[in-house]
Order: sequence, then C-alpha cells, then structure tokens
Amino acid sequence: MVLIAHISDLHVGAPNFKEDILLEAIRQINKLKPDATVITGDLTDNGYYLEFLQAAEYLSDLKGPHIFVPGNHDARHVGNETFEDVFRYRRGTFVMDGLTIIGLDSSEPDLDYGKIGRSQQIWMEDELDRASSRGHIRVIALHHHIIPVPKTGRERNVLADAGDILQSIISKGADLVISGHKHVPPRLEAWRTPSL
Ligand SMILES: [Fe+2]
Ligand SMILES: [Fe+2]
Repeated sequence: MVLIAHISDLHVGAPNFKEDILLEAIRQINKLKPDATVITGDLTDNGYYLEFLQAAEYLSDLKGPHIFVPGNHDARHVGNETFEDVFRYRRGTFVMDGLTIIGLDSSEPDLDYGKIGRSQQIWMEDELDRASSRGHIRVIALHHHIIPVPKTGRERNVLADAGDILQSIISKGADLVISGHKHVPPRLEAWRTPSL
C-alpha cells in the first residue's frame, strides 16, 4: 500500500497564519510516516523571499520525501522570479517505489488564475506514459483545480485550460489528481479534537 500525505495553502506570512496548526500537521504527518508528502502551493501569502525562506524552514521539519508546487500567491510580486532560488524547482517528476508523482506549475506571474499551457501539458503526457511503462501508481499534483469544488460559490478557480488538461489526464489514465487553492477549512470542533 502507498500512503501519501497532502497539505496545501500554508500561506506563511498571512495575518491569520497559525504556526501551531502547521507544526501540529507536520507532527501528525511525521507520525504517519507516509511514502511522500505533497504540498500543493500557496506556500506563502505574498511570494516574498523571506516568506519563502520561512516556509522552507517549516517544511524541512518533514521527515520523509516531500514534493511541492507553486500556487498563485507564490507568484505574487517578484515571487515568480525567486521561487526557484529557495525551492529549486517549479515542476518535476518524483519517482519512488511503485509511485510516480508529477508536480505541475499552474501559476502565472502575479495573476490569480491558473494555467498549465501546451508545452507543460505535452511534458505531463510524456511523464504519464513513462510512469505507465513502469507500472506505477500515477499522481498529478497542482495548485489550481481542474474541476469545480462543490458548495464554494461562483466558479472562478479552475484552470484556464482545464478541459485540455482533464482530457489528457483521463486519456493517459492518471490514478489521482490532488490540488489546493480553494480554502475549505474544517469547523472549529475538528481542531479541538485531533485524531492523532
Ligand atoms: Fe491559497
Ligand atoms: Fe491559491
């Protein structure tokens, strides 16, 4: 069995960022010992260099392999230019035992909407083919949604090229797609009674 932990939208630097909640999440993830932890973007609130450094320091507490992609907030201001200075990559394929995770960059410089683009789409299709030939479980990770999230109001968060990406993912047979972006926090009671 493969175990993947998924967290998203840390928004380090935001006025309502709560360090204790992130540290507790990291503690629970480390206890679970997942095969990989995926962080689907908005690591920071403003894309400031110091926020990137701070987010990287938090994520360095994760004990197992972890993978991240940028979100729209990470591309704010000059974040689009400096993200790779701290996090080294914006997209990538991560191959583990029986598992391939393909991280996509859906951010656009200083814009909130998301787009994968034709060249990245072709790269994703090739990576899915390679993962299939290895017989791996294939996971796609990206910040923006490909399909709308129920009960979250007027849709304005899906990728600009959602239809094309959805078609590729279905035709290539990805097993799982995980994303962040739309915030749907649990009710307060859930925070008071952590299960781990
Ligand atoms: Fe976010
Ligand atoms: Fe976002």
